Amino acid sequence: MIGQAVNRVDGPLKATGRAAYAYEHWEAGQPLYGFIVGATIGKGRITRIDTEDAEGAPGVQLVMTHLNAPAQGPRDESIPFEYWRAQPMLTGPDIHFHGEPVALVVAETLEQARDAADLVEVEYRAGRGRFDFGEFEDDTYIPKTVNAGLPTDTAVGDFDAGFAGAEVRVDQRYTTPYEFSMPIEPNASMVAPRGEDLVVYVSCQITDAARDSVAGTLMMDPARVHIITPFVGGGFGSKLGIHSETILAALAARTLGRPVKVTLTRQQVFQLVGMRPTSSQRVRLGAGRDGRLAAIAHDVTMHTNPDVEYAEQTAATVRSLYAAPHRLTSHRLTALDLPRGTDVRAPGEAPGMLSVESAMDELADALGMDPVELRIRNEPTVDPERNVPYSDRHLVECLREGARRFGWESRPATPASVREGRWLIGYGMSAAIRGHFQGPTTVRVRLEPDGTAVVQTDMTDIGTGTYTILTQVGAEGLGLPLERVRIDLGRSDHPSSWGSGGSWGATNSSTALHRACAALRTKLLDAACGDTSSPLHGRDPADAVFSDGNVAIGGASEALREIVARHHPDGVEAEGQTRFMGDDPNYSDYSINTYGAHFAEVGVDADTAEIRLRRMLSVFSVGRVFNPKTARSQLIGGMIWGVGAALEEEAVVDPRSGAFVNRDFAGYLVPVHGDIPADIEAVVLEGYDDKANDLGAKGIGEVGICGSGAAVANAVFNATGVRVRDFPITLEKLL
Ligand code: MOS
Repeated sequence: MIGQAVNRVDGPLKATGRAAYAYEHWEAGQPLYGFIVGATIGKGRITRIDTEDAEGAPGVQLVMTHLNAPAQGPRDESIPFEYWRAQPMLTGPDIHFHGEPVALVVAETLEQARDAADLVEVEYRAGRGRFDFGEFEDDTYIPKTVNAGLPTDTAVGDFDAGFAGAEVRVDQRYTTPYEFSMPIEPNASMVAPRGEDLVVYVSCQITDAARDSVAGTLMMDPARVHIITPFVGGGFGSKLGIHSETILAALAARTLGRPVKVTLTRQQVFQLVGMRPTSSQRVRLGAGRDGRLAAIAHDVTMHTNPDVEYAEQTAATVRSLYAAPHRLTSHRLTALDLPRGTDVRAPGEAPGMLSVESAMDELADALGMDPVELRIRNEPTVDPERNVPYSDRHLVECLREGARRFGWESRPATPASVREGRWLIGYGMSAAIRGHFQGPTTVRVRLEPDGTAVVQTDMTDIGTGTYTILTQVGAEGLGLPLERVRIDLGRSDHPSSWGSGGSWGATNSSTALHRACAALRTKLLDAACGDTSSPLHGRDPADAVFSDGNVAIGGASEALREIVARHHPDGVEAEGQTRFMGDDPNYSDYSINTYGAHFAEVGVDADTAEIRLRRMLSVFSVGRVFNPKTARSQLIGGMIWGVGAALEEEAVVDPRSGAFVNRDFAGYLVPVHGDIPADIEAVVLEGYDDKANDLGAKGIGEVGICGSGAAVANAVFNATGVRVRDFPITLEKLL
């Protein structure tokens, strides 16, 4: 079952509209609707707030501001991850960023709430904000840590000497813009009081974090908070934590004793959820004429909100990528009065690889060397900074297989040398690497007396295919047909997981389920083999084969249903777990990563500089794949996001107000079908990483976006001879 291209088991529910998303649960009773009023300044203080007109408007039940909001728990920095911390709202008159909630208006209908929101009168004393990254880029400090607990700086050898002595040097600065996750489903929540408890329907990636964050903010026992999130319309990092929509709904629901729904408008998603920080990255590469790197440095400056520090791991990826004796990486932050920077798909890794793999292309050009060959020449034998072996590194195979399938040998060797009519044609490539993570996840599997299995965990399916792959793993683990395995996800009352994020969701939950199935098989075998009334009595459990709802040992067999009915008339269950990677020696003894190689062909209009992607092919090594169909969706989705990072995505801050000026899909461009050719393919090498987990599988959600933008950018250079280092490569930069 594992490895089959099974269709999504939840596909029919979604296609027929029966899958309920956070804003769509009706079982909680007739809800009230909240609408968030946002600050119209980026920094300063509320001097007066008048809610009288709003309170008198039709249908309005409550106008909550900092003057009447309930007391809330503080953000607790001793909790290791931001997403588990309290998120207090409406705590005072100070404004920290443009759009920050200053009021929640709750009414009988959404229209009434939105209408009354306009009647809340707020006066401000605006302060001088720091809004412009360019202005404050040099005013930096060293972050406490880099996302995922990585070190801020690393140094190996003597970079300055190694770089100075190199025969060929690249020393360039690359900049990447603010970017937003922007899933189709905006952040939304409905909170329903149930006695002393709160039932929280919320679109989120990590159920366990949502529960603790709500409980911490409302100063409740976490056991009294019940998160329900069976379906999530995309996350990409924007739902790793909960935000104002959930906290304000919870505060209002408790105040009013009724269910309250709050969703963000698309415009508010651009204000209230956080974004990928903007970055300025200096990449230095020093190599010999033979292409061997002597020195690599990647120094990154990014923005952060001053109160809630966040440093993407932008310079971390290069630490494991290429061999070189002299190395340097650093992360610096500059505080701006903007929303918190946050995880956006492949945090740091995506913008970091965009720069590093552009610089590698510049080095190949300076050397007059094939960029594929340049990368192969710098293949390390051990992780060059951690000095541990790789668990299962196949970057060179990805490069070779990709080059062969793409037809890389017909690449224009000289930039701007191939023209078809109006179109300048270019080829580009890039390597991809991403660390693989593991976190604590528990999964329970229960065999019912009718012989069906139910899998329970608070793990989410954010569109990635969790329901489907867990069905496959459960069916294989218990020898059941797919239709006899039911997956019950997204409830905080189930055993807790690390959720969907960091590309760890599939491997954590599948590994934990795999182990749960093994424990359950043992229970069933112990019962049957020790039971004189079973045909399996006295046989050796080690020889058991589970298939088609039966267990066979030698020539004897019995239906699982029979064993359960006789020994466990109420059903029988077992749990399996994965542990935090810091407690798993494999993750310290080996460098465990996923790999890939991207190849892109672009056409650039010789007169207008319009850039069109003509085809794209990427080859990945990600260990074992659970389901090639859902995996392909993940990988191609990531690759396309890389195309957007190279050519389209860019959020712009108005330096006077601190507001993002593009706040919808008309002004914030992402690739649409018309931008992506049919000729795009993701190929996955056969693989199995025995150091990663029992199943040999690694994360695939984010490696697709790592490096893919650089392949496109390098193709643009190959087509035009123009190198753009300020992303995205919009056409005016080529003219
Ligand atoms: Mo991913 S940015 O960890 O959801």
